[in-house]
Amino acid sequence: MPVILAIESSCDETSASVCADGAILSNVIANQTIHEAYGGVVPELASRVHQQNIVPAVQQALAKAKVSKNDIDAVAFTRGPGLLGSLLVGVSFAKAFALAKQIPLIEINHMQAHILAHFIAEKKPSFPFLCLTVSGGHTQIVLVKDYFDMEIVGQTLDDAAGEAMDKTSKILGLPYPGGPLIDKYARQGNPDAYQFPEPQIPGYDFSFSGLKTSILYFIRDNVAKNPDFIEQNLPDICASVEKRIATILLNKLQKAAKAYGIKDVALAGGVSANTGLRLALQEMAEKNGWNSFIPKMEYCTDNAAMIAIAGYHKYLKGEFVGQDVAPMARMAF
Ligand code: KG4
Ligand code: ZN
Repeated sequence: MPVILAIESSCDETSASVCADGAILSNVIANQTIHEAYGGVVPELASRVHQQNIVPAVQQALAKAKVSKNDIDAVAFTRGPGLLGSLLVGVSFAKAFALAKQIPLIEINHMQAHILAHFIAEKKPSFPFLCLTVSGGHTQIVLVKDYFDMEIVGQTLDDAAGEAMDKTSKILGLPYPGGPLIDKYARQGNPDAYQFPEPQIPGYDFSFSGLKTSILYFIRDNVAKNPDFIEQNLPDICASVEKRIATILLNKLQKAAKAYGIKDVALAGGVSANTGLRLALQEMAEKNGWNSFIPKMEYCTDNAAMIAIAGYHKYLKGEFVGQDVAPMARMAF
């Protein structure tokens, strides 16, 4: 019955989790609010705050799990992809802990972990399944053949879906991170109020840069005619943008599911917290006779529980790494 301590520090959340025999006992997430003033994550500041947060986050995760440092059998950590300065804090902490306790180290790919978060819940997808992973840095359709046998069948050619959310909110003058705010205002708006274009990209790839430009021009032209345009129409604008982003994502997912003959489809990553996208996937799943899988909110955005569950499955395979391991800003599957 392995007890695993997991560390996540790839972007601006410092998180620690303890899992025993595949069951999550704690998942502590320290959010960094310092970046709000800058309209985006400032890497240098992120790594400094990780440095302050990492020890308290681990202490809290151990306390909540009612586990002592001496009970830990292995340490799992995010090796990449992510911000190098942020990753360095988590990787160094994990290495030091493992060295002090003479226990194995398990490296985890952050994007695989977002997908493996589905194995925390009781209702788990069956292999092979398709996962639409949508975050601030990535937008991927992944064919998941086994825990660590994954193939990217489609991805964004430019901006990520989360970036499209965040950039739209910036255009609207909302604070960072904008995704949750777009979600909030969209709930009170009409998703068919405004039509934004759907890019025609071949295969299962995505593009969001054209959408961003069309939103920018749309707002600029309307504000020129009516300076209060944003204030008067914020819910309708947010609902219409959210709907377009969701249809761009789900139309490609549907195309891929048909081509690969897949019946189990899943959503992962920070943008999977979006209410409109969650509802639209459920609707599409019902129409197509799919089983759909959407993680609990706390496992959508960055968290160490997903690193812990991924670490548990690597522990079972005996896949460990040595003290010479280094973080990777870019990391393939
Ligand atoms: O996975 P994540 O926490 O961090 C990365 O690895 O990037 O994803 C963060 C992204 C941000 O772009 C944020 O705006 C978006 O997820 N996001 C949302 C919502 N919650 C977070 N986007 C739309 N609706 C939400 N409710
Ligand atoms: Zn993430």
